Amino acid sequence: MRNAHHYIAVTILVAIVTVATYFALLLIGPLPLQASTQSLDIDWLLNLEMQLTGFFFAIIVVPLFYSLFVFRRKKGETSDGEHFEGHSGLEITWIAVPLIVVVWLGIIGADNLRKVTHDDPQAMQVTAIAFQWEWQFVYPQGFTDEKLYLPVDRPVLINMESRDVIHSFWVPEFRIKQDIVPGRIMEYRVTPNRVGTYKVRCAELCGTAHSTMEEEVIVMEQAKYDAWLAQRTAEAVAAQATEAADPNPSATRGERRYSENGCKACHSLDGSHGIGPTWKGLYESEVKLADGSTVIADDAFLFESIKEPNAKIVAGFNVNAMPDFGLPDRQIADLVAFIKTLK
Ligand code: CUA
Repeated sequence: MRNAHHYIAVTILVAIVTVATYFALLLIGPLPLQASTQSLDIDWLLNLEMQLTGFFFAIIVVPLFYSLFVFRRKKGETSDGEHFEGHSGLEITWIAVPLIVVVWLGIIGADNLRKVTHDDPQAMQVTAIAFQWEWQFVYPQGFTDEKLYLPVDRPVLINMESRDVIHSFWVPEFRIKQDIVPGRIMEYRVTPNRVGTYKVRCAELCGTAHSTMEEEVIVMEQAKYDAWLAQRTAEAVAAQATEAADPNPSATRGERRYSENGCKACHSLDGSHGIGPTWKGLYESEVKLADGSTVIADDAFLFESIKEPNAKIVAGFNVNAMPDFGLPDRQIADLVAFIKTLK
């Protein structure tokens, strides 16, 4: 072959640049810990794509720069360049090879998605509720927590709901991210494989406090998890028994509900207004409404405002700013009892 040494040089340079680009990508894009079995499959695919990226970068850039430097016009040379009429072999190659690569990537990508979303009937279930701007986790044993506790090495199905707008459940260490569309139950399947504390973040712009919508995800050894679950279940049973024995509204329970139901995301206890009015000094105060009238924040007003958030809009706050949480009357009564104590 004529000019064989150019082909050999370019081939060697392409190989070097491919490897260098791949390692440079590894260096600049360090992924977080792998904390789920799904992350292994996903990272495998990502790694392959970084290798391919390195190769395709090299095969474009190396011939370009090689030509610029090696075939540069010599001093005093004034002749025209050689004339080409296309090269069918080359054209077929650069259509066929990328086509095969893209189809192949599509197939392994689909296979990866199948593995990652694989439906395991043995999976443990938890419900995640997203709302502006908090997470709440409902355990099948009948209690709620702000944090997500999971046992290690066990498939989990998280059924996710949104009370208002679109949120997105994202734990970078698990790699999987899933939008939560209101009105639907979205499924998120994961098998945590590393004990530790991670963070779930909301990955969909959902309003003013979107950036603070994060919560801890705690992955524990199975034995520790069982102990935690037994303790929380016992607490829930005891709380239910006390509630049944004492039908009167309770400020203590109201305070717990204030945290559990996420009221604290919008209503402060220190007098500062957030997304919603502060609860401090609210009881029996004079409240100005958006329509210009005033009401006294008595039991009836507070009860109605929690039950039907849009019934009366306080001046300076938006309609629909508060979703209907669908709380049972008893819980609302507890919350009102709690508000009464906040002088
Ligand atoms: Cu919820 Cu962003």
